[in-house]
Amino acid sequence: MARFTPETIEKVRSAADMVEVVSAHTELKRSGARYQGLCPFHDERTPSFSVHPDEKLYHCFGCGVGGDIFDFVCETSGLEFPEAVETLAERYGVEVTRVEQDPEAEARSKARKRLQELLDRAASFYSSTLASSKEALASREYLASRGLGDEVLASFGVGYAPSAWDTLVKRGQQAGFTLQEMAEVGLVQKGREGGLYDRFRSRIMFPIRDARGRTIGFGARATTDGQKPKYLNSAETPFFHKSEVLYGIDVARPAMAKAGRAILVEGYTDVLALHQAGFSETVGIMGTAMTEQQVAALSSTVGTVILALDADAAGQKAMLRAQEVAAGRKVSIRVVAMPEGEDPAEIATEPDGADRFSRLLEGAVALPEFHLDLVLGAVDSSSPLSRDEGLDRAVPVIASVPPGALRQELVRKASDGLGIETPVILARVEAEPPPSAGRPAPVAAPTEEAAPVEAQRSGVLTKHERRERSLLLMCVADPTEGAVWLERLEERHLSSDLSIRTVTWLKGNLDDPTEGIDSEDEDVRRLVRALVVRADPSKVGEGAIRRNFMELELAALEREIEQAGEEDAARRAELSRERSTLVEEVRRAEEEAA
Ligand code: UTP
Ligand code: MN
Repeated sequence: MARFTPETIEKVRSAADMVEVVSAHTELKRSGARYQGLCPFHDERTPSFSVHPDEKLYHCFGCGVGGDIFDFVCETSGLEFPEAVETLAERYGVEVTRVEQDPEAEARSKARKRLQELLDRAASFYSSTLASSKEALASREYLASRGLGDEVLASFGVGYAPSAWDTLVKRGQQAGFTLQEMAEVGLVQKGREGGLYDRFRSRIMFPIRDARGRTIGFGARATTDGQKPKYLNSAETPFFHKSEVLYGIDVARPAMAKAGRAILVEGYTDVLALHQAGFSETVGIMGTAMTEQQVAALSSTVGTVILALDADAAGQKAMLRAQEVAAGRKVSIRVVAMPEGEDPAEIATEPDGADRFSRLLEGAVALPEFHLDLVLGAVDSSSPLSRDEGLDRAVPVIASVPPGALRQELVRKASDGLGIETPVILARVEAEPPPSAGRPAPVAAPTEEAAPVEAQRSGVLTKHERRERSLLLMCVADPTEGAVWLERLEERHLSSDLSIRTVTWLKGNLDDPTEGIDSEDEDVRRLVRALVVRADPSKVGEGAIRRNFMELELAALEREIEQAGEEDAARRAELSRERSTLVEEVRRAEEEAA
């Protein structure tokens, strides 16, 4: 699809009603020039979600999310930018124009669109077949006996593929698709004689969709014991790359973003059963080990991933593999101790299954702790040799955790489990080389990582940063007065590169700080937008910007005095004199204000 022109994007932005769009997700109340409400992205009781109706921006002071109207639509609907623009354009009657594209690219994108339509139509054919065909009766009964209700089956588009060899072959052609196209998306395949026939027959069909809800492939379950394999998945196609798929992501994404966590399970039925039981932040990895791409996709949306994999050897291996692929990512991984012989689907469909699964989730432990338990569980405590082997394996696990409470806990646990004194274990752990490239890096301690990045940052703002932000906030709120003081801000006043870049941007764009901000990097964009959303002229008191500036100046001077140190007595004296003058000025300014 050709890109929209920048003018189109701006037209859509100005036509769309920010308050109306957001109000579909949370109730907003007017508060001065802003609107406020409960954050639709995290659970809260007091409103910290703020909307700027003219700039069409939003920001949550609780969880740190924020962005413009397009970001909001993307985040709440799982759409990507072009679709968000299109959706809003339709809704607000804006005519769109696109950048001209070369004919070859146009043709490719047309062809791809057809294949996409083919996949989506196949999915809806299978699902209507499950709902109404006589042949699917046994499958309907089977799904019901597994405790899966019509509602969840419909929301995941579960279907049935008839037993005939040529159902899709025929229907597809009738609908104007070629056999070549059907083969390309993996719906038909070549037989020994070279003829093409349906790949999926007599199977319960689980359509696999991308984050935007487009069908990209299928998982197909056998309906009889003799049918092998139990699950037949789509072969790799230009649409379907098994290693990237998170089954259920289209349905789960909003809930994941809201809960700040994802529950990861192995099977299709696990995903369905947990959604039905109310755990709609669940996605499936379809029996494979977790991959880099899956972790990357998850860590962009959530801070915590809870693994609820089967308690068998394969499941345990998958969990340890998760530790490796998650290394270095800003996501904390916790593990549910699944009872042996039960999978989440079974638990979730029991009468009080939702409660039981909740308790299991609460008992989830950090991945290193789970790993250590596995190591300790394999130790024969009557054999010193086995205990030493256990120690060898426990040390790198403990060393992967940064020093702190969790590490201490693990040392204690290892000491108990191995019957070895803690100092011995500590000495070994401390001698262990720090994790580096080439071997699993530290698995982050879970506590802080769970919070969204922004919230974490705001939680640890230094006094210096708070002062700085408050000055910028007032400059944005009162641009006339602000411009004067902003001009005087130099690098020596500022705490970070981000602040310097933000100030540079504001110096040139104070009249309309968000206009053209898209050309800046993400951190600057976020900060500027957060400032614009928060800025409130009624809160900028007389002389407040000046006082705030002087405080920053004073702090800068103090840093410089410290740096001048003992050696440069003359410089130190000069700076100290400057400081006294300034202190006196600040005092007077404060008196005036009072
Ligand atoms: P399971 O064998 O645990 O299946 O495989 P399940 O999900 O519990 O199946 P039900 O509930 O009996 O229907 C877990 C997952 O591994 C993948 C599938 O994604 C399955 O959901 N798998 C399993 C395959 O891809 N192929 C297979 O032959 C078996
Ligand atoms: Mn299973």
